[in-house]
Amino acid sequence: MSANMNNEPLIRVQDLGKSFGSIHVLKGINVNIYKGDVVFVVGPSGSGKSTFLRCLNLLEEPTQGHIFFEGTDITDPKVNIDKHRQKMGMVFQQFNLFPHMDIMKNLTLAPMKLQGKSQQEAETEAMQLLERVGLADRAHAFPSQLSGGQKQRIAIVRALCMKPDVMLFDEPTSALDPEMVGEVLSVMRDLAKEKMTMVVVTHEMGFAREVANRVMFMDEGYFMEEAAPEEFFGNPKNERLKSFLSKVL
Ligand SMILES: Nc1ncnc2c1ncn2[C@@H]1O[C@H](COP(=O)(O)OP(=O)(O)OP(=O)(O)O)[C@@H](O)[C@H]1O
Ligand SMILES: [Mg+2]
Repeated sequence: MSANMNNEPLIRVQDLGKSFGSIHVLKGINVNIYKGDVVFVVGPSGSGKSTFLRCLNLLEEPTQGHIFFEGTDITDPKVNIDKHRQKMGMVFQQFNLFPHMDIMKNLTLAPMKLQGKSQQEAETEAMQLLERVGLADRAHAFPSQLSGGQKQRIAIVRALCMKPDVMLFDEPTSALDPEMVGEVLSVMRDLAKEKMTMVVVTHEMGFAREVANRVMFMDEGYFMEEAAPEEFFGNPKNERLKSFLSKVL
C-alpha cells in the first residue's frame, strides 16, 4: 500500500527544536507535509525559516525532536542520511554550481556518482530537464557565462536530476535582479502544477498567495499560524502575523 493511502505524511516533524548555544531558534515544531503539498513558509528575518528548512534534510542537526521522512526517522543516528537526502532536492539563494565544470557536468555529477547512472542516461535525463526550463542550448556553457536567473534555473534542474520526492527552496529568488525573478518563479509554478511536493521559504508574498496550498507563519521559534492562502492573507488572526503582513504587502 502506498504511504499516501494511509495518509502517512511524506514528512512528519515532531517536536522539532534547534538551539545554537543559548539561542533557541526552533522551539518544538509539529507539522506534517503531505505528498503534493506546496507549503510556503514566511516570517520575519531571523525567525528560523532557513534553520527549519535545513533541519528537514539534516543540514542542521536538530537538538530536539524527530523528523520522519517517508516513514523513516531520519534523526535516528543509525540511519544513512545520505540515502534519504538524495530524495530531498534543495535550492538555495546562492546557486552553488561548480564553476570549473560546464552545466552538463554540474547536472550529471551526482546522478552518476550517487545513483550509479551511466553518463548517457544521466545526460539524456539532464537534457530533457534543461529543455523544460528553456536552457537546452546552454548545456555546455560554464556557470560564469550564465545570468543569475539562468543559474538558478540550472540549480533547480540539478536538484530535479536526482528525481527527488520533495523540493526545498530557501529564498530562491532573493539574490536575483528583479527582471530575473519571473523566470525562476515560472519554473517553480510548473513544478507545483505537476504536483511536486514543495516547501518554499520566500519573501514573494504574491507568489505564495498564487501557488501555495498552505502558508505558514514562523515567528519566535514556532509556526504561529497556518492557513490556506486566501485565509492567510485575507483574514490573518494572529496579531504578529497582521503586523508582519502590513509591512510586507
Ligand atoms: N550556524 C549558526 N550559528 C549560530 N546562530 C545561528 C546559526 N544559524 C542561524 N543562527 C541564528 O538562528 C536564528 C534564525 O536564523 P535563520 O537563518 O533560520 O533565520 P531566517 O528566518 O531564515 O532569516 P532570514 O529571513 O534573514 O533568512 C538567527 O538568530 C540566526 O542568527
Ligand atoms: Mg533564511
